[in-house]
Amino acid sequence: MELNGRPQTCEIAPGANLLHVLRELRQFSVKLGCETGDCGSCTVLLDGEPVNSCVVAAARAHGHQVTTLEGLLDDPLMKDLQARMVAEAAIQCGYCSPGLMISLYAHIKAGGSADEAVLREALTGNLCRCTGYVKPLAAAAAVATERRGGTS
Ligand code: FES
Ligand code: FES
Repeated sequence: MELNGRPQTCEIAPGANLLHVLRELRQFSVKLGCETGDCGSCTVLLDGEPVNSCVVAAARAHGHQVTTLEGLLDDPLMKDLQARMVAEAAIQCGYCSPGLMISLYAHIKAGGSADEAVLREALTGNLCRCTGYVKPLAAAAAVATERRGGTS
């Protein structure tokens, strides 16, 4: 696969999911929550689309692009989102944050709306056990509005 822009080869056990393979590759932003596709803490981009890596067979990544938060640290949009998240104090324990930020990043990068209801929809696959949704939504709305030239 191409992992964060670089060719990556690895051996996988039959039936291994992408989440475990990525963590073995030291992509520690990819968190294990439920392992049933319900919480979104394992969200990564597969060919640019957010997926729950715990329910994606690792073999599915063969020949595809996988992006984790580690691969977006220098991305201008992710940097804006991170700065806003910090400014809004939008992180509590932080366990859900990488997956949540990947989902918001994908939404904003695709030109998604800054409207709160739409942003909430974009986050339906990401559960925060600390129940901290309001501030990440505010951070995302600010970044999305900026990217859309001041319109929501
Ligand atoms: S660990 Fe993948 S969705 Fe919860
Ligand atoms: S900040 Fe703790 S789970 Fe979301």
